[in-house]
Amino acid sequence: MAETVVFTLLLAFCLVGLSLQTVQAKINAMFVFGDSTVDVGNNNYLNNTKAKANFPHYGVDFPSSTATGRFSNGFNTADQLAQQLGFPMSPPAFLSLQTRQSLTSQMFKGINFASGGSGILSHTGPLLAGEVIPMSMQVRHFAMVRCNMDKSKGSYGASDFLSRSLFFISSGSNDMFEYSLNGEGDDTAFLVNLTSSYKNHLKALYHLGARKFGIVSVPPLGCCPSQRVRNPTGECYEVLNDISRTSYAAIGAMLKELQMDLPEMKYAFGNAYKIVSYVLQDPQPLHFKELKVACCGGGPYNGSYACNQTLPLCANRTEHLFWDWFHPTQAASEMAAETLFTANKNFVTPINFQQLTEL
Ligand SMILES: *[C@@H]1O[C@H](CO)[C@@H](O)[C@H](O)[C@H]1NC(C)=O
Ligand SMILES: *[C@@H]1O[C@H](CO)[C@@H](O)[C@H](O)[C@H]1NC(C)=O
Ligand SMILES: *[C@@H]1O[C@H](CO)[C@@H](O)[C@H](O)[C@H]1NC(C)=O
Ligand SMILES: *[C@@H]1O[C@H](CO)[C@@H](O)[C@H](O)[C@H]1NC(C)=O
Repeated sequence: MAETVVFTLLLAFCLVGLSLQTVQAKINAMFVFGDSTVDVGNNNYLNNTKAKANFPHYGVDFPSSTATGRFSNGFNTADQLAQQLGFPMSPPAFLSLQTRQSLTSQMFKGINFASGGSGILSHTGPLLAGEVIPMSMQVRHFAMVRCNMDKSKGSYGASDFLSRSLFFISSGSNDMFEYSLNGEGDDTAFLVNLTSSYKNHLKALYHLGARKFGIVSVPPLGCCPSQRVRNPTGECYEVLNDISRTSYAAIGAMLKELQMDLPEMKYAFGNAYKIVSYVLQDPQPLHFKELKVACCGGGPYNGSYACNQTLPLCANRTEHLFWDWFHPTQAASEMAAETLFTANKNFVTPINFQQLTEL
């Protein structure tokens, strides 16, 4: 099965060069929502959050070894996807656009609203991270942008522009981490809440003009170094993996249903649970050698503390699946973005991200 991934990756290398121009003509901008997997620096502007990554060793493999606020050694999944789409740059953090002029000059090129530590549910964040920008607020930030777009291009022009933009969303992990840390409970009720909240955010985005949604599920969260620590055997924390897997089905069913209500909605739903599971089962073809221990951190599996400058770095960052206690390495997110872009229905349904851009 891992061979499928490898084949897909090889195929990706052949296709990207050929299809760049077509893709660029079809998708005019990318708008990003979600958590630390795709935050490119919004949390740098929050004063009361623990979810920050704007200090070394974060960014050690970013151009000029800059710590930008990305929770990675280099580029994250939002960056990698922007690259797949043919954009020269990943869209900047909304909160970095501090003047009206910087906002208006960027809004037709794409903006990133994501915030580390945030979740789909508005009450997610305080337990693990402190201050965050929950999805509901990210959507409100986008509504402000839409309002400015209307002023600039008129309502019809803005709608037309947004119908050809990609809305990329990666969220849900922090809701599950907090649910689990709170002692869990009724998983079904939790997932019903999560899914219905997600549905409302997607509806709100649709009514603001979003048409093409690229959505990625949560990976097997119990296999993060921070969660292995919770298991006396050091294996993945299966309770959390079960919730991760079940959420994929629940959100998938919701998306199908939503598409029937919203006639112009199109989506690609990436199965990060399956993508990461295949790597865990057969890492060699993708050159990962260390699947358990984070590259930077402290404690067992480097899963007890966040990375910082005083902690040692691993010898070879491309061989590690995990960069820190919660986050993938640049190498891992690159593999994920390529898979989302080009893989078959085993990994992304009903179409892949590339097909979504071409609709
Ligand atoms: C954060 O702190 C800075 C410096 O004290 C202040 O200028 C800024 O307004 C604060 N930001 C927020 C969101 O409170
Ligand atoms: C689901 O949402 C309801 C209403 O907001 C809340 O009362 C309930 O505690 C939530 N259940 C779970 C398991 O989160
Ligand atoms: C780095 O992390 C370790 C482990 O959490 C902590 O003891 C240390 O104070 C941190 N150093 C800095 C400079 O934040
Ligand atoms: C790091 O690991 C990769 C994959 O195994 C290998 O190709 C590369 O040569 C290694 N780099 C160094 C500096 O050892």
